[in-house]
Amino acid sequence: MIMFGELPRSSAAPWVPGAGVVRETGGVTAVPASVPSAGASAGLPAAADRYADAWTPEALARGAVAAIDLDALRHNLGLCREAAGVPVMAVVKADAYGHGLVPCALAAREAGAEWLGVALLQEAVALRDAGVEGRILAWLGVPGSPWAECVALDVDLGVSALWSLDAVREGARATGRRARVHLKADTGLSRNGATAEDWPALVAAAVEAEAEGTVVVVGLWSHLACADEPTHPSVAAQLEAFDAAVAHAEAAGLRPEVRHLANSAGAFAIPAARRDLVRVGIHMYGLSSGVAPAADLGLRPVMSLRARLASVKRVPAGSGVSYGHEYTTSAETTLGLVPVGYADGLPRAAANAGPVLAAGRLRPVAGRVCMDQVVVELGDDAAEVGDEVVIFGADGPSADDWAAVCGTIGYEIVTRIGPRVPRVVLGGGS
Ligand SMILES: Cc1ncc(COP(=O)(O)O)c(C=O)c1O
Repeated sequence: MIMFGELPRSSAAPWVPGAGVVRETGGVTAVPASVPSAGASAGLPAAADRYADAWTPEALARGAVAAIDLDALRHNLGLCREAAGVPVMAVVKADAYGHGLVPCALAAREAGAEWLGVALLQEAVALRDAGVEGRILAWLGVPGSPWAECVALDVDLGVSALWSLDAVREGARATGRRARVHLKADTGLSRNGATAEDWPALVAAAVEAEAEGTVVVVGLWSHLACADEPTHPSVAAQLEAFDAAVAHAEAAGLRPEVRHLANSAGAFAIPAARRDLVRVGIHMYGLSSGVAPAADLGLRPVMSLRARLASVKRVPAGSGVSYGHEYTTSAETTLGLVPVGYADGLPRAAANAGPVLAAGRLRPVAGRVCMDQVVVELGDDAAEVGDEVVIFGADGPSADDWAAVCGTIGYEIVTRIGPRVPRVVLGGGS
């Protein structure tokens, strides 16, 4: 977590708090201190060395890169496996939370993930097309999704309703293969999954489908609403409802191989939720699930969003910065231009707040986030066009820090980093 108001570590002249004034509040911008070096504390090479390889010609030409550290991913997954003590499903939906589907899936497998989990059936197809083998569960289909293709590709399918069970049965008939399904119970999230009222009919239909040979029920599962608040009363209620759903299904004759309902937070903080496997996403990417700061759990950020200054210039006191002039320089100063904006996924809510490590210190974004760029105030610190800045990631502020100042979660920060930012994989993989 970034700290505001502490003295910077750097031996250079300290950043002057209040060098810029935020018009909206009329107050002085809170200026974070420079960040501790995560690399140094973890015995890793200095960031500059570690990230040199991220600056491929394409990244240099773009002036921005999302470096994906697969060593960090493997490290994080190892911690998750240790903490949970049961098999892990590495959740790689949404392009592996913006980190890149296939390299992350392969790295997760290398780190021992017995399962991969995706939302869309198309994501499972993409994994198979890329040659990713082993168990994959896909859980968010609609009528018209590639159900039959997934059956043909040996993908496990989440089934929440009679219509999706029918889609799987049809897929099994069309391909001549027995489909593996995980019946999902809605135990209180009120999202996907069969309600307690609809569960008996879904189970009965699954028993019938097993008897006809089209389907085998290998999993029973659910998802928690408040896993990041382990003492929230809904957690115990959902566990109880899940036990009842499992008991009903088993009494009806189903013999699932796995029961599962824990995400990262559940896997870490709710031992009773671990069951036969845990589905881990955000902790694998080195960010907080809400139960504890990621660094406290020993997690390392996998994505590092870095950029090169596109402009460096001196401006006088009283210069309005960015659209709307919501930030005004209070002394002569240097402005640095970072070529990443909301079209690349930086939230506009980060105006005057999003922390950027530039010229050796953390600086809040000065003024509004634009479509393609943000400005940072560098004071009198030395900087040149082409200097590297860290928007978030290893040795800089974290995506969770950006989330905190934007009123969102780290999941959203990394997932939204768009395709205009090249991903460069470090630590093996392609
Ligand atoms: C059904 C399901 N399981 C597991 C996960 C992984 O959650 P987390 O990233 O919090 O570990 C998700 C992600 O939102 C999910 O939708």
